[in-house]
Amino acid sequence: MKERILVTGGTGFIGSHTVVELQNSGYEVVIVDNLSNSSADVVDGIEKITGIRPDFEQLDCLDFEGLEKVFAKYGNIKSIIHFAASKAVGESVQKPLMYYRNNLVSLINLLELMPKYNVKGIVFSSSCTVYGQPDVLPVTEDAPIKKAESPYGNTKQINEEIIYDTVKSGSPIQAILLRYFNPIGAHPTAIIGEMPNGVPQNLIPFLTQTAIGIREKLSVFGDDYNTPDGSCIRDYINVVDLAKAHVVAIDRILQDKQNEQVEVFNIGTGRGLSVLELIQAFEESTGVKLNYQIVGRRAGDIEQVWANPDKANNVLGWKAETSIEDTLRSAWRWQQKLREDGIQ
Ligand code: WQD
Repeated sequence: MKERILVTGGTGFIGSHTVVELQNSGYEVVIVDNLSNSSADVVDGIEKITGIRPDFEQLDCLDFEGLEKVFAKYGNIKSIIHFAASKAVGESVQKPLMYYRNNLVSLINLLELMPKYNVKGIVFSSSCTVYGQPDVLPVTEDAPIKKAESPYGNTKQINEEIIYDTVKSGSPIQAILLRYFNPIGAHPTAIIGEMPNGVPQNLIPFLTQTAIGIREKLSVFGDDYNTPDGSCIRDYINVVDLAKAHVVAIDRILQDKQNEQVEVFNIGTGRGLSVLELIQAFEESTGVKLNYQIVGRRAGDIEQVWANPDKANNVLGWKAETSIEDTLRSAWRWQQKLREDGIQ
């Protein structure tokens, strides 16, 4: 059995898919999650997929003493993947202090404990949101970091700076920052997937809930942008492909392959799709007609962003492989499974 990895937020959307891929790769996993935006049932789902039940500690990463007890209890945690964070852009505008406390102090607690317990490295869940609206597209890792549009986006920028400053201060830890684009889809088994609380803020869960009849109509937030069809463009990446990028990053840290103590990678497909193109792709790949309307722009939305993934492809050795059609079908299958199981 390979080394043990601590995954914070491991019952969440991206976290759970990453735990599956870590186990598939032979790693032992300890999940720490406060279940504020997920359910412990996800641990059962992971076990159902891989046949291996990850260790699970219900804990808030703000609880330094509790976190230290986990490090001491498991003893040989070799690296961390840190997903646990509040991540709703709109909510962060309403509750900035909660976002700054949760997203910054959680990371600080981990960084403080790592050297004490010989934890070699951390893979940090960052976001393309740090770029704001890039001046040049596709966006590369050395694009300028612009003033964040929301407290959520600002916490991601500050988190990255905290990691750089910690390393610069002489901490022995290694770090890989993965800047995600737009994660979508679900595990092909439809046993785990995205489970937003309440009314979904993100496009795909709202789209599939509309397709299955939970929502009456999908609102497209604006078609008057400076894009070919007027709707916003994003780089939609399959969640399993994204999960695999984390395993490659963990391997890179543990096998001492890093070129620098802190490395940054854009984890995207390199393909931009507009909202209207995505709706069309969903209808064509599932055969389900979607009821939608064009409405006004959503505050805070940037117009267009998609990744230049060359560095991740050539240096990290990872590439997105799943087609948008298969990814949308997986999202639809997941929504249908929730209906069959009487969950949504
Ligand atoms: C995508 C596009 C909307 C809903 C955010 C965060 C990012 C990451 C993913 C956490 C936009 C349009 C959406 C709807 C719509 N979050 N849309 N109708 O805003 O690109 O990214 O979520 O890590 O960090 O910034 O994702 O899915 O909300 O929106 O037209 O009902 O879909 O305007 O153009 P976004 P999204």
